[in-house]
Amino acid sequence: MAIDTRVNLGGLEMATPLTTASGTFGYGTEYLGAVDYSCLGAATVKGVRMSPWPGNQMPRHVEVPGGLVNAIGLQGPGIDEFLSHYVPLYREKLCGLPMIVNIWGGSIEEYAEVAARLDAAAAAASGAFAVECNVSCPNVKAGGHTFGQDPEVLRCLVGEVRKATRLPLVVKLAPNVPDVRPYVRACEDGGADAISLINTIPAMVIDVEARRPVLANRTGGLSGRAVHPVAVKAVWDAARATSLPILAMGGVYEAKDALEFLLAGATAVAIGTAVFSNPGVVREVHDGIIDYCRRHGFDSVRELKGAMLQ
Ligand SMILES: Cc1cc2nc3c(=O)[nH]c(=O)nc-3n(C[C@H](O)[C@H](O)[C@H](O)COP(=O)(O)O)c2cc1C
Repeated sequence: MAIDTRVNLGGLEMATPLTTASGTFGYGTEYLGAVDYSCLGAATVKGVRMSPWPGNQMPRHVEVPGGLVNAIGLQGPGIDEFLSHYVPLYREKLCGLPMIVNIWGGSIEEYAEVAARLDAAAAAASGAFAVECNVSCPNVKAGGHTFGQDPEVLRCLVGEVRKATRLPLVVKLAPNVPDVRPYVRACEDGGADAISLINTIPAMVIDVEARRPVLANRTGGLSGRAVHPVAVKAVWDAARATSLPILAMGGVYEAKDALEFLLAGATAVAIGTAVFSNPGVVREVHDGIIDYCRRHGFDSVRELKGAMLQ
């Protein structure tokens, strides 16, 4: 019997529980010919803000045991070019595959403006869209603290973005907080439809011979295998604190990793850093989830959600 792989992420209908992690999959079409897109329920694209942004100086990524430390610095073309070039290209090449658009800004107003632009563009374009708010960037007006590290600021931000769009609204949380639950509740209170986690974990690598940080930005964010157990714990904590659906990410390299997220309470899973070294990972994770359902007597992927035995 065929396993039903459909999931609903806060109003976004996905044919499979898999998407890509923002910033590791370009604007969606870059992996054509390398990744099996039929295994994806959506593609999540790189962060977009109002105006073009150059990102950080090179070098801006370094491999470490178990992952990658990056300080790309959210380089991007800005919303105008995104809408006029990247969205039509995506729709031409990928037809009906839902697109999750990761957004960011330097102020709450900017987030709301980007969301409003997307809302208007989505109404005119074909295909499904969702918004994913990256709240791990500095709030310029508040001296550079990130939006996602103050529950009250986060609630305000989510509330303003909510007013600006009817699209499914996913809020992406940072892992570097003592307890993720107040942030989950702030997202709920602000009107989010879903939560995603985790973003990268702040990290640093030093070249001891040169006695300098390896990254031009000095610090960056750790992703990959090393962050996976941290992400599983964050997803489990979040799932017990909310009924909102969760999009889980962090170190998915094989089906077992995605299954851990689903059993901990996630509805969908994003694959990020792993795709750089193995574009076949998307097919492998997809088939491994289906095989697991067959072996364990689940008729649908939805039944896996929170099915961990206590
Ligand atoms: C090179 C790179 C760029 C990223 N850019 C973004 C971004 O633009 N917006 C965002 O919310 N997260 C960004 N992330 C974080 C990922 O989406 C993801 O949350 C994190 O890498 C953990 O998943 P992984 O271990 O599977 O990569 C980026 C990660 C990497 C490695």
